[in-house]
Amino acid sequence: MKKQLLALFIALVPALSMAAGSPAKLDAMSPDLYNTESLHNGARLFVNYCMGCHSAEHQRFARTAEDLGIPQEVIEENLILSPQTAYNDQMRIAMTKADSAVWFGTPPPDLSLMARLKSPEYIYSFLRSFYLDSGKPWGVNNSVFPDVGMPHVLADLQGTYSLACDPNAIGAETIDPLKGKVANPRDCFKEVTPGSLSPTEFDKAVYDLTNFMVYVAEPSKYQANSLAPKVLIFIVIFFFFAYLLKKEYWRDVKH
Ligand code: HEC
Repeated sequence: MKKQLLALFIALVPALSMAAGSPAKLDAMSPDLYNTESLHNGARLFVNYCMGCHSAEHQRFARTAEDLGIPQEVIEENLILSPQTAYNDQMRIAMTKADSAVWFGTPPPDLSLMARLKSPEYIYSFLRSFYLDSGKPWGVNNSVFPDVGMPHVLADLQGTYSLACDPNAIGAETIDPLKGKVANPRDCFKEVTPGSLSPTEFDKAVYDLTNFMVYVAEPSKYQANSLAPKVLIFIVIFFFFAYLLKKEYWRDVKH
């Protein structure tokens, strides 16, 4: 019995380490890979706002076009911004890692697998958590990724915000003693200058961008999803024949 209990405990260890995660409180985000409009908007934002610095080199423009149903001309006119890049090329960028390491301190990582490495919730929260901090090289900091080396690239859409709470306290779940309500970390962000989008529109834009990054991190999900019902149907049919075969084998044994 002791051995079984020990085995059970060891099996549960990975679950415990998962719970440790990022200290910051992340906002909920559930991706929808069948919302084409959102994915199209996400692709547009990604190319225009992220690919100045980040590549997604495990993904090709042509694959994005096929999976998301975007015509080749639209990709070529709107998403391929460099004349050196062709429709079948990977989503690479011109900036070299060596140059960007000098400019930013840390080179911007490739974003192909980022949504799986971190999580959709992390990216969604990270992109919405920049706040003004004059002590930092880019004049901004981030409550989800303290001392981040990335500038607030979506500032023209979101506007700028200052942080009204202690950044270290944001992750912790705090309860307002008067109202008895759990404090929402979003209440700590106070608008300083407005952006071109309202807060709700901005959240939607970041949702779309994150949704696109979730797609890029696992483009084969569409094939897997369309294959799944076929595999299940096959298993049901196979079960029927396997059952008949079993009956056939055991007929002689029983008699
Ligand atoms: C001006 C260059 C620049 C642009 C444009 C840019 N980033 Fe970054 N990004 C960086 C740098 C530099 C880092 C590395 C920061 C660090 O490790 O301190 C980074 C890091 C990241 C990370 C990793 C965070 C982590 O926890 O490791 C994510 C996710 C990310 N960027 C997403 C984006 C998205 C999405 C966009 C487009 C909206 C974008 N970035 C646009 C420079 C940029």
